[in-house]
Amino acid sequence: MDGNGRWAESLGQSRQYGHQVGSSRVYEIFKVCTELGCKTATFFAMSSENMNRNETEISFISQLLKSSINEHFSDLVNNKIKFKVIGDLSSLPNKILEIIQHAENETKKFSRYNLNIAYNYGGHWDIINAANLAVLNHKQINYETLCKYLSTSVNYPDLIVRTGGYKRLSNFMLWQAAYSEFQFLDILWPDISKNDIECIFDNYENTQRKFGLVK
Ligand code: FPP
Repeated sequence: MDGNGRWAESLGQSRQYGHQVGSSRVYEIFKVCTELGCKTATFFAMSSENMNRNETEISFISQLLKSSINEHFSDLVNNKIKFKVIGDLSSLPNKILEIIQHAENETKKFSRYNLNIAYNYGGHWDIINAANLAVLNHKQINYETLCKYLSTSVNYPDLIVRTGGYKRLSNFMLWQAAYSEFQFLDILWPDISKNDIECIFDNYENTQRKFGLVK
């Protein structure tokens, strides 16, 4: 979800305003994705590296995480959406952790849709974390034993979309992205529309996925 800061600055507003509007688009865009047949979506809210930004911005985004869970908790339950926050959550205040855990516990029985937020998430962290958990439980690590402990388990993204104009992964799902399709959009995240999502899905559907085979 890149481009909140530039979007706000172009309007003469604060970066915080950009994050606030960006955050308000998450559930709305998730709904559009589900209407188009997508069952699982992960929104990259904070990377491990974003955590080196100033304390005011980090704290503001963590409060947005809390308020968006509170705002959409009943939508998650009513629409049978399994909710999860992935990433290293150890730096979050207990009050926010409790709200996350409550939302995760109350929605863990659902399997129709999955809405994940990646917070203080990095692909490097995910792989190291999985490797540490795997060695505790297995004599030798192989592909299956490592995948089992990744934050997404064995569900890999078919499609990764980055808004904001840059063409890079920025440490997002490095392992899981092995055969993902990529779309990089110039649109700044707060400007993303239903029509943009429809174009993204159309482009995806017109791509032949080969997974290394000859087709
Ligand atoms: C990158 O844009 C965006 C972020 C680091 C934060 C994304 C956060 C949100 C959309 C709000 C939080 C949402 C939830 C649900 C917690 P940038 O600020 O780096 O933009 P720029 O490249 O234009 O400066």
